[in-house]
Amino acid sequence: MKELLPPQTQEYQARAREVAERYARPVAAELDRTGEYPWSVIKALKEADLMGIWIPREYGGHGAGVLDMCVVVEQLSRACGGIGVAYAVNALGSFPIVLGGSEEQKRRWLPAVASGKKLIAFGLSEKASGSDAGSLRARAVRDGDGWVINGDKKWNTNGGAASIYTVYASTSPDRGTRGVSAFVVEKGTPGFEIGKREDTMGIRCVPVHELHFRDCRVGGDALLGGKEGGGFGNAMMTLDRARPGVAAQALGLAQGAFEWAVRYTSERQQFGQSVLSFQATQFALADMAIQIEAARQLVYTAARAIDAGVPNPSKLAAMSKVMATDTAMRVTTEAVQMFGGYGFCRDYPIEKYMRDAKITQIYEGTNQIQRVVIGRAITKEAGQLAGHLGVTVEHFPEAEKKS
Ligand code: CAA
Repeated sequence: MKELLPPQTQEYQARAREVAERYARPVAAELDRTGEYPWSVIKALKEADLMGIWIPREYGGHGAGVLDMCVVVEQLSRACGGIGVAYAVNALGSFPIVLGGSEEQKRRWLPAVASGKKLIAFGLSEKASGSDAGSLRARAVRDGDGWVINGDKKWNTNGGAASIYTVYASTSPDRGTRGVSAFVVEKGTPGFEIGKREDTMGIRCVPVHELHFRDCRVGGDALLGGKEGGGFGNAMMTLDRARPGVAAQALGLAQGAFEWAVRYTSERQQFGQSVLSFQATQFALADMAIQIEAARQLVYTAARAIDAGVPNPSKLAAMSKVMATDTAMRVTTEAVQMFGGYGFCRDYPIEKYMRDAKITQIYEGTNQIQRVVIGRAITKEAGQLAGHLGVTVEHFPEAEKKS
């Protein structure tokens, strides 16, 4: 319900919806077929002053929150999941600089991202290091006043389209996660190559690439925050803030698929009546609507908690991602079912929602990893709970009586 959102957020939502309906929806199917980047929509987002809204005002942004970013991603994804992530990845790529960059680095890179003049991407995963992000093999070695980076990155969303890349490499391999450092590397730097493009199931208008670094020399000012070893924490804090964005993408996909399902079943006639008039259809749509609204509230709550600066937002961010992305998979699959045979055909818009939804359960940390994050948080809370309840399992009064 938009009335429950702060007025500024409602304004972003309305503007994003306008861009989504006028520019994203009409090109969604064609870009899915061709794999071309949604440059026309990025242009429209720039003109609507929606790019990089989360970037602080002093660096050219609006100083908007994660909630504002989420409502924009949700509206775009309602029309096209690929366009939703093409936008959201700019938050994933720039949060590391917002969170850990020096004043000079923020002034150097953030204004171009805020205006949409340049896109930014995030390079953490590698072929052999996905869920176990801390096992990355890319290395950066000090060379005079700069660094030489060697290694390969995988699953770089917006790869090639982006001009700026936040890249994680180990500067002290013997220190494990504490030896990981973050660098900012610009496209065109000698030794930095955009590699193979993946042939993906969904979000096909967004390029997902390998990145290669071969004796890539960057200046000392490319080391984020000018500090070695803080990269892993920076990546984790970034993901805490970006995961609600993936959740919002999933939410938009679920909402978009739901709307198509309602429209289709209300028009489709079988046995002399609309498919929507069957109670079985209404019950299925009711379950979809309940799940979407429940997911929406969790996504907005996680985003609000981050904006309010609550300490350790990891658990809520992970919960919002699991809830919204699992909902998106269920809802889009059910929507395909409601379209019957037509749902299986590319002539109809619905199968794309299901293909686009799948990746949301996988990237920015699989939903299994989100459960690891949630489980670890619960384990920490268990200690506090024991203190609060004042008993341990061995000393439950009932158990004592029975023994
Ligand atoms: N905030 C701040 N610091 C954190 C943190 C957080 N949320 N989580 C962990 N840390 C810190 C810890 O405090 C610890 O610091 P110290 O060494 O100083 O104590 C350090 O990081 C290591 O922490 P863990 O021991 O918990 O790390 P781990 O190796 O067990 O990994 C994990 C934890 C949650 C599994 C993590 O590896 C993870 O999130 N994996 C998934 C990675 C991921 O999401 N990848 C997606 C990349 S983006 C993408 O998909 C492509 C794209 O372009 C969209």
